[in-house]
Amino acid sequence: MAKQKTTFFCQNCGAESPKWIGKCPSCLQWNTFVEEVVQKTPPKDQWTVNAGISENKIQAKRISDIEVSELNRIDTQNEELNRVLGGGLVPGSIVLLGGEPGIGKSTLLLQVALQMINQKVLYISGEESEQQIRMRAERLNLTLSDTFVLTETNMQNIAFAIKQVQPTVVIIDSIQTMHSELVESSAGSISQIRECAGEFHKFAKQSNVPVLLIGHITKDGSLAGPKVLEHMVDSVLQFEGDRNYGYRILRSVKNRFGSTSELGIYEMQSSGLRQVSNPSEILLSHRDQMLSGIAIASTLEGMRPMLIEIQALVSSAAYGTPQRSTTGFDPRRLNMLLAVLEKRVGFRLASKDVFVNIAGGIKVDDPAIDLAVVCAILSSNEDIEIDDKICFAAEVGLSGEIRSVNRIEQRISEAEKLGFERIVISKFNQKAIPKGSKIQVIAVNKVEEVFKYVFT
Ligand code: TYD
Ligand code: MG
Repeated sequence: MAKQKTTFFCQNCGAESPKWIGKCPSCLQWNTFVEEVVQKTPPKDQWTVNAGISENKIQAKRISDIEVSELNRIDTQNEELNRVLGGGLVPGSIVLLGGEPGIGKSTLLLQVALQMINQKVLYISGEESEQQIRMRAERLNLTLSDTFVLTETNMQNIAFAIKQVQPTVVIIDSIQTMHSELVESSAGSISQIRECAGEFHKFAKQSNVPVLLIGHITKDGSLAGPKVLEHMVDSVLQFEGDRNYGYRILRSVKNRFGSTSELGIYEMQSSGLRQVSNPSEILLSHRDQMLSGIAIASTLEGMRPMLIEIQALVSSAAYGTPQRSTTGFDPRRLNMLLAVLEKRVGFRLASKDVFVNIAGGIKVDDPAIDLAVVCAILSSNEDIEIDDKICFAAEVGLSGEIRSVNRIEQRISEAEKLGFERIVISKFNQKAIPKGSKIQVIAVNKVEEVFKYVFT
């Protein structure tokens, strides 16, 4: 018998190595290499029965001859999800939904499955039994639908079930629980995830049936398993939420068929996820009282826009040397902004303690939050509240000039989506203001100009 070939794979990023190594050279994580058996024989095709691929089907086409119709997107009957997908589910696309355990991924997709009455949905779960799924459907008050449900983790059996049911939409909960007999490593390992995702990809492209995959995420918030998974799929959606509030945010991290700046908002209720079409209702419930020292910044984390709350506290220094302390913000940048306020605007802050905190325990190094930091500091210093409907997206330069920031359209539309009425940006960003936006955009040149809009 031929010797089995094994390779070591980094469980974090999917890098390969013929030998075990302690530290992954590509993602620099320690102890992530695991030995997996690699199959060299070409796997037999499981999807050909109804696709009937033959040589004469393989033909390259001229780009002008390829027909596309925008209208054939599948309506998921869920407006927020449609929006995040860029107008509905594209036939033959493969969508990955990631999120922390318990955030509501299974609930969201089961709810979508049960509501898509004009589609034949096959919901395959490797995590819950049929009874549990039925109980969840009862909880969602959606038992009349004729969605098909299957508890299965074996890819070959799933392929059989798909041929039997002939669904028009397939949902897989979750890709990490699936395993294929063609690969010998255990479910959830890099080679299994890659193989199974590859099979679903092949199926989706051949049959034009969209496949929605649920994916787990790791402790540090990235999608569990390999980055390769993200490359293989057409769209990656991220489901996030706040444990203390019932709302959930669905964003698109990657989308081959639409923009990644859209987001969908839901509220988890006892009977499932409610779509929140007016997002300001949840933002407003956070703060029923206006407080000084708080300013909202529209920032980007990677490609993702989000609004964050900057809190500042300015008080007279109790000891000789004033303290400057920050949480989630670069202290050197704070010192620079304080020097600008002192020298260019004439505020006497040299003898004051200044504390800056980014709410929610996150760390931001986007310079676009500068203006919000400056306004929060002045708001606390003067003890004047900033209107909670205004937000900021601009960098502050050394001479007190307001500098432009990248992706301003995304920041503005995020602010608008979250219910803000005004946003302060740099004059140099004015050209890029999206047309038809309802939010009032205030473009300024100098720090001093901002105050008349904010503190009146
Ligand atoms: P679930 O969809 O199982 O999360 P995931 O698949 O992302 O791990 O969500 C489970 C949580 O949602 C659980 O804590 C209970 C809550 N939940 C509700 O609050 N209301 C509901 O109607 C349902 C079905 C779940
Ligand atoms: Mg689940």
